[in-house]
Amino acid sequence: MQYIYIFNVIDNWRFAVRDPDKPLQCAATQIERAQSDKSLKPTIAGFFDETTNTISYVVHDPKSCEAAIIDSVLDYDAAAGRTSHGSADRIVEYITSNNLKVVWLIETHAHADHISAAPYLQEKLGGRLAIGREIIRVQDVFGKLFNAGTDFKRDGSQFDKLFDDGEAFAIGELEGIALHVPGHTPADMAFIIGDAAFVGDTLFMPDFGTARADFPGGDARQLFQSIGRLLKLPDETRLFLCHDYKAPGREEYVWETTVKQQREGNVHVKDGTSEDDFVAMRTSRDKTLAMPTLIMPSVQVNIRGGRLPEPEDNGVSYIKIPVNAV
Ligand SMILES: [Fe+2]
Repeated sequence: MQYIYIFNVIDNWRFAVRDPDKPLQCAATQIERAQSDKSLKPTIAGFFDETTNTISYVVHDPKSCEAAIIDSVLDYDAAAGRTSHGSADRIVEYITSNNLKVVWLIETHAHADHISAAPYLQEKLGGRLAIGREIIRVQDVFGKLFNAGTDFKRDGSQFDKLFDDGEAFAIGELEGIALHVPGHTPADMAFIIGDAAFVGDTLFMPDFGTARADFPGGDARQLFQSIGRLLKLPDETRLFLCHDYKAPGREEYVWETTVKQQREGNVHVKDGTSEDDFVAMRTSRDKTLAMPTLIMPSVQVNIRGGRLPEPEDNGVSYIKIPVNAV
């Protein structure tokens, strides 16, 4: 099941659930015209994929209609080894019906739970594919694990842009800032755009806690420090999460919160939590977690910028599974 929500550009929810008969036209609504004169704020749409509990985002500048797509999902049937584009096509439909111009396709990190649809979306919509510079380290670790051979370049060249910590970028008149927030993986980045921050796999909803830190190259202490950087943002900063899994007692999926809510109530890292306590909790909890179902195909494809491994001499691409190696 897929859900599409559109968040208002300032501070109120204007559209709780998208009405497909009334597509939002970029820079055409009274709300957007009024607000875009006052300040530069992004319009944000979240697309929830219930199969992988992932939220993809389209962030756009209501003045210029330029947009970024963050953390897209390529549907993958692991049993059949077959990809499909239902999730990605919902984003294509949203972009085209709102007359947006894609300038960035951003990955917060090399995901281990879903395959990126960025190359598919880039072919249809354009834009530059970007990820954090430390992807090079992730490519090195997993290049070895998958015995990818010398044809697999471990220099980030599969991406159009490698962001450094603190680097600025533009979406129309909006300014984005890339923040290096390692811990879940060495390459995790968060992206601050206007009053919003897309935090990738760092924080989850306050009632669920934080991302795991036990993948190769992960580090709970680094994760705590990265989350500390995010929680220094202004209290009212809207945080948009990469995943939601609900939480005991919660019936709805939610993926937007604030710095204030996290500092007051995150069950793993609220104000007053010590680094050592966090590391002990995170380390013991991670020992109880199974590997994500799609980790092998996801990582293998995502370290290649979302492209399948080169076809073999019969024209077919293969996904490898290292046995007893992880
Ligand atoms: Fe992740």
